[in-house]
Amino acid sequence: MIDKNEKYSILTGITPSGSGEVHIGNYFGMVVPFLKLQEKADKVYFFIADLHALTTVQNKQELQRNVENLVLSYLSFGVDTNKVIFYRQSDVSQHTELQSILNNVTPLSLIKRCHAYKDKLQKGEDPEAINMGLFSYPVLMAADILLYDPDYIPVGEDQRQHVEVTRDIGGYFNNIYGNTFKLPEVYNVKETARLIGTDGKRKMSKSLNNYISVFADKSIIKKQIMSCYTDPKRIHPTDPGTVEGNPVFIYHNLLNKNKQEVKELEKRYKLGTVSDVEVKEKLFIAILEKFKKERELYEKLQASPEKIRNILKEGAEKARKQAIKKMIEVREKIGITNKYSTFSYE
Ligand code: TRP
Repeated sequence: MIDKNEKYSILTGITPSGSGEVHIGNYFGMVVPFLKLQEKADKVYFFIADLHALTTVQNKQELQRNVENLVLSYLSFGVDTNKVIFYRQSDVSQHTELQSILNNVTPLSLIKRCHAYKDKLQKGEDPEAINMGLFSYPVLMAADILLYDPDYIPVGEDQRQHVEVTRDIGGYFNNIYGNTFKLPEVYNVKETARLIGTDGKRKMSKSLNNYISVFADKSIIKKQIMSCYTDPKRIHPTDPGTVEGNPVFIYHNLLNKNKQEVKELEKRYKLGTVSDVEVKEKLFIAILEKFKKERELYEKLQASPEKIRNILKEGAEKARKQAIKKMIEVREKIGITNKYSTFSYE
């Protein structure tokens, strides 16, 4: 656990798969914790893992769109680029270079135990048909991390194993070549109670299409809200309804700044004096209000690609500086650098 006075660095990545669109479940699960963490940590690396996305996204336009969505979304939410080193994985070629080297100290058996691979098998995929990118996903992730010597990796539970594998791989390397890599720990982002989806049943997720977007067109957000599951036992607006566990009220409580309005809606809902439609319309207004600033910034940033390019360029330059330092050390330790070497990163 982190001691209050400790100085520490964190690193995390996000894969632009799915559509790169951010929904309110991501907002509470990832964005809010990240924004808090960026204040507390001394150094923060945050990157878009576009090379990792290639395991599933193999369409040029789709990858471009996903990356753009993520970059614009996170910047609009307030990633502090004065403090956070914000970059794209593919802009720092040392990630793949280190992956190539780490492949050689990574036992097959270690990777065969990883979720990335095992999940696919469980879904009935032919083990012989799984692509190598997916198989060696944890090795690239280890490279992403070990290049920068971070202390903590804030990730969700589903990525814990990959951080442990990173420690294993870093440990094997350190054993063979001498101490080179810091072995980081998972930063326990308190699992914000998973946000229920608009189907009222499962966790909000893009693949289940039960989400409410933050940055989509108003008309899309309205549709997403209007199709939200409420109290199935309630047929008429005059029927008394249930508020507990009702997703529309869960969202109201989380997002509506007007607490008085929420209280009144709850009261009227229980009495049967308000329609589902009115509750949803108020939720629509509340969500737009909640993300007003962010949505405006998103549009502004989208209209200035030059600005985004500069942010990413600066981030990549800072990351590269650290990555190169580490790679020079690695090249020396493994013996690639010798008296005949002329290679340079400059
Ligand atoms: N695999 C992570 C995910 O899908 C993203 C990721 C890639 C990452 N490299 C990383 C996270 C390094 C933390 C550290 O969520």
